[in-house]
Parts: sequence; structure tokens; C-alpha cells
Amino acid sequence: VNKGHGVKGLAELGLKTLPQQYIQPPHERFDSSDYEEQPNNDTIPVIDMSNWDDPKVAEAVCDAARKWGFFQVVNHGVPIHVLQDVKDATRQFFGLPAEEKQKYSKQRSVTNNVRFGTSFTPEAEKALEWKDYLSLFFASDDEAASLWPLVCRNQALEYVKSSEPVVKKLLAILMKGLNVKEIDESKESMLKGSKRINLNYYPKCPNPKLTVGVGRHSDVSTLTILLQDEIGGLYVRNTETMKWIHVPPVSGSLVINVGDELQIMSNGNYKSVEHRVVANGSSNRISVPIFVNPRPSDVIGPLPEVLESGEKQIYKNVLYKDYVMHFFSKAHDGKATVEFAK
Ligand code: SIN
Ligand code: FE2
Repeated sequence: VNKGHGVKGLAELGLKTLPQQYIQPPHERFDSSDYEEQPNNDTIPVIDMSNWDDPKVAEAVCDAARKWGFFQVVNHGVPIHVLQDVKDATRQFFGLPAEEKQKYSKQRSVTNNVRFGTSFTPEAEKALEWKDYLSLFFASDDEAASLWPLVCRNQALEYVKSSEPVVKKLLAILMKGLNVKEIDESKESMLKGSKRINLNYYPKCPNPKLTVGVGRHSDVSTLTILLQDEIGGLYVRNTETMKWIHVPPVSGSLVINVGDELQIMSNGNYKSVEHRVVANGSSNRISVPIFVNPRPSDVIGPLPEVLESGEKQIYKNVLYKDYVMHFFSKAHDGKATVEFAK
């Protein structure tokens, strides 16, 4: 059915029902009784970064990383036009003819730095997810971007570069919260030695209740910086009640979440929390996460400064490349990946 054109190709055939391979088992579907409305004083915070060196901001960031693993930031310093441009470029890329996008498929892409795909890891999934993506790897220089598709190259690069200051501020705050006095070269590499930017496209779905946009997972990053459009649909696990909480689109904001690597480095003090995206029956949705990652060759483990307090070491050292390979070898499966580091 699919002919490699992704779910956008399927949606454009005007299907009235969901193809069978996208039907998720009942326990993976979104059940509204699992959803929790949060009182305003106890929900995923929206943090104003304009006075980022104010200790109150640092406290809000570290508290959110410990309790929710998620927060949003406003006045983050990334120009609004840069956010708008990368969203426009995302729509442009997915609007290309199928043959153009196929040039970046796993089979055909001339570089591992660029990958157009659908679902998460179709080879390993019993049921597919209703999402297409373009994934772009960024090592550190412009060279890395030279093979990115032209319709979105400059916009994606601009977004990565202009988010660097807020990434640095957040990591400095989070490290201080772990008693790390100085971010030396090796820590800097572990925290943000490489990046990956994904352009995600979730087409309108004929039977949204039977499938998912993205299944339950936590990220294999240190931090994820997510730009979402105004449609909504991202849900985060409240680790106390185990219910799901919506992350409402806030105009001009970025959603920040702790990934597994930061959970490991912090020895579990900061939480990498499960999240998922629902499929939508009436609108297309886009999102643009930047995964701030270690370098593939880095070895990740709990930081010495954290263990100095005498707390028990929960995680062992793992090679980041192996951790990522493990993540992509199986379907999305909640928090299962982190067991790899135990
Ligand atoms: C993801 O977590 O994989 C995607 C998040 C989103 O699209 O909001
Ligand atoms: Fe994610």
C-alpha cells in the first residue's frame, strides 16, 4: 500500500479507514480516562528565561527537571522568526514530491547524516506509528549540514545555532544543581557533543483513536528542545499518578525535556520521562525537536560530583553509540531503554 511515500502519502490517497498495520494494540491507544487535568499550581511549568541568572529561575529549572522531566521556556533568546522559518521549511520539505523525499530514505540517502523515514523503526515494530520524519545529524560545523535538503537546510541550521545559547544556559543551571562546578571539555562533549534535529510531520489520520503519532518512549538525549505548532497532542507521564498530562502549545515557547543520558549522568536525580503523541483526526501537525546528545564515541555514566554525596550508583557506564543502537533495535517501549545502563 505504502510504496515508501510515508503516512503523508497514505493520507493523501483519501483513505477512509486506517490501514491494518497502523492499528495499535488496545493498551497502546489513547484512553481519555488515563488523561489528567492539572491544577494550575501543579503542572508542567512555563519558565521565563529572560533573567536566567536569577537563582529563582535556576531553582525552577532544576525543580522541573527533578519532578516532571519537562518544562517550557519563554524569552529563551531564539528569535521568533527563526522558529517560524523552520516550521515553514518543515512544511516545504514534506510538501515535496514523493520522489524528492525518497532521495533521503534509508535505502537511497548518500549520507548517514540525513534520513527521511516513517513510523519509528518499521523493521522492528508490530504496529506502525502515524508519523513521517526527516532526521538531520549535526556534528559541530557547517560541513555536516552540506548534504541536508536545500529546502530546509539554512532554516534548520539557523534554528540549531540560535538555540545554542539557551542550551548552554540550561545545561549550566542543571549542572550547578548537581554540584558540578565546572563543565570541562569531556563533560561538554558528554552533554552536547552532537545534535540531531528532526522535522516531524503527523498527517491528519482517518481513525486517530486506533493508532498513535508516537508511542510511549523517553528520549535518548541529554536534553531535547522541542518546537511544536499550535495543534497540540504531546502527552507526558506524571510519574506520581502515572496519568498523562497534555503539554499545551504556548506561542513562542520551546518545550524542554530531560533525556535518558542526563538521567544517567545525574544518577536518577533528573528524570527522563515517558511521553507520547496522539494521532489527530482533523489537522496535520508538525514538530521540530533538537536532540542535544553526547558524541557517539562518549562513555556515559553517573557524574563523580553526584556520587560524592555518597548516594548509591544506579547506572553503569555505557558507550553512547551502543545505547542509541539498543534504542533503535526495538519498537518504542516506554522507559525500557534505560535498563540497558543498569
Ligand atoms: C517525540 O517525542 O518523539 C515527538 C514529540 C512531539 O512531536 O511533540
Ligand atoms: Fe521524544
